[in-house]
Amino acid sequence: MIPVNEPLLNLNALNYVEECIRTGWISSEGRFIREFENRWASYCGMEYGVAVSSGTTALQIAVACLGFEGGDEVIMPTFTIISCALAIIEAGAMPVLVDSDPRTWCMDVSQVEAKITPRTRAIMPIHMYGHPVDMDPVCELARKHGLFVIEDAAEAHGAEYKGRKVGGIGDLSCFSFYANKIVTTGEGGMVLAKRADHAERLRSMRNLCFREDRRFYHNELGHNYRLTNLQAAVGLSQVEQIEEHIRRKRWMGKTYTERLSGLSQITLPVEEPWAKNVYWMYGLVLTDDAKYDATELAQCLKEAGVDTRPFFIGMHEQPVFKKRGMFAKERYPVAERLARQGLYLPSGLALTEDQLDQVCEAVRKVLA
Ligand SMILES: Cc1ncc(COP(=O)(O)O)c(C=O)c1O
Repeated sequence: MIPVNEPLLNLNALNYVEECIRTGWISSEGRFIREFENRWASYCGMEYGVAVSSGTTALQIAVACLGFEGGDEVIMPTFTIISCALAIIEAGAMPVLVDSDPRTWCMDVSQVEAKITPRTRAIMPIHMYGHPVDMDPVCELARKHGLFVIEDAAEAHGAEYKGRKVGGIGDLSCFSFYANKIVTTGEGGMVLAKRADHAERLRSMRNLCFREDRRFYHNELGHNYRLTNLQAAVGLSQVEQIEEHIRRKRWMGKTYTERLSGLSQITLPVEEPWAKNVYWMYGLVLTDDAKYDATELAQCLKEAGVDTRPFFIGMHEQPVFKKRGMFAKERYPVAERLARQGLYLPSGLALTEDQLDQVCEAVRKVLA
């Protein structure tokens, strides 16, 4: 079976982890945490980095640090992972949804303005599968209405919007370093911030909101969302080789596109003129007249030795939110199509040309 993902770890990861073990710095203090935070923030063009235990916990403290109140609203795309909506709800605010752009699969920015109300506090653009959101209209609306921009760049490390790294554009940005991400720490995440007061609050929230002047004394409830020095050691070794990771992903994306274009039943990822796509995962979307839906195609590909993963299911279709009476009767046709007709192919950093050829051959055969 050709796996959907495999991480690419180098000898420096081993050396840095060995250093943690030799020196005893295995918890959430140590040089690798600081170096990883600084390197990642500066790579993305942000001032401050706060490393945390996952992309989900990054989103949780990023939204919470803005101090929203009940009834406040955050605009986000329906088509994403549940972590985004979870973070907004846990912070006491309400997710307000927009549909996706059928080309980039990112939030349809032309739908955002109509969703702005006097209670809107933030917009959460999410860079999907390696392709950036069209950020200028988002930032313009945020400026006009006094809203925060919280980028979720979990899936798009190193992707660029008009020459700027994603995760370096909004007020806050969130990353996941799960094992399938372009930079990984096994499990892990980070929030990047432009403002010192945000960074300070994020640091406090990831560490139980201990008061600085008196240990075990708290004005607020925080969390233990700390990343370990061991994980940050792996992370630093990964950041050092990010250009190679991006080179591999872009080779993979372009080669898949070359070999699969012209097939009538699928649409392929795009790279808009203003974008640098890092092809985190190479997705396919079946056309309406294709002979299979994504579940059936995945099954056929599995039988041919090719592992795949389905696309996300929109937030408005989630039973957990329906039960709460949220998003009732809301329809987002692009996201609904993506959920039923989208999947992604093996896209690991270790994918070989031979494997890629086998995948393309299998896709052609199954769709023939
Ligand atoms: C867009 C997006 N945001 C957030 C997350 C959550 O990250 P984690 O799995 O590290 O909690 C993911 C996970 O892959 C994601 O795809």
